Amino acid sequence: MTMLTYEPAEVVVPAEAIAARMPALAQEIVEAYGGGAEGIVIVPVMTGAFVFAADLVRRMPNRLRVDVATVRSYGGGTTSQGPRIEGVMPTVQGRHVLLVDDILDSGRTLTFLRKDMLDRGAASVRTCVLLRKRIPAAMSTACEFVGFDIPDLFVAGYGLDYDGWFRNLPDVVSLRKVGESSAMVR
Ligand code: IMP
Ligand code: MG
Repeated sequence: MTMLTYEPAEVVVPAEAIAARMPALAQEIVEAYGGGAEGIVIVPVMTGAFVFAADLVRRMPNRLRVDVATVRSYGGGTTSQGPRIEGVMPTVQGRHVLLVDDILDSGRTLTFLRKDMLDRGAASVRTCVLLRKRIPAAMSTACEFVGFDIPDLFVAGYGLDYDGWFRNLPDVVSLRKVGESSAMVR
């Protein structure tokens, strides 16, 4: 097992704030689809979105399907290497797709997946993220539903990882190098 170089530093979005945001976010989505919310396909982007999507879909009362897409963008560090599809993609032909991801950073993942879903024949594609970094690349990427805008920090917890770790933490936290006092920036 490799040594962990990073540890939780500060709580950026507490679990309570996430729980409090969930009903309004779900309602926003259902209302935006109007009567068309019946039969939509929720596509959580694995693995980071598994906690968020689980909370979100349980707040959506309409008939829907959940079918995951596995995309890897971080090759085991904190620098994005661009999105890559892994495994079988959901069947979206003629369906209204809602992509659900944990965080919007460079925007490459959602831009790539939106096009991919449309290329596969989706009737429409909208996107929802729990977190969006307050950086130009993220703020200028099309995204219909956003849980929270956060500072430009590398964060983990509530599904988000650092090299596979910390997904189980209930809060979204910043990280710091073990033994150092300041939070890691990106
Ligand atoms: P983008 O393609 O650069 O927008 O990045 C989106 C993907 O990168 C997300 O699905 C996350 O998996 C990952 N990511 C970006 N920023 C962070 C972060 O601060 N912590 C953990 N994962 C991140
Ligand atoms: Mg991820």
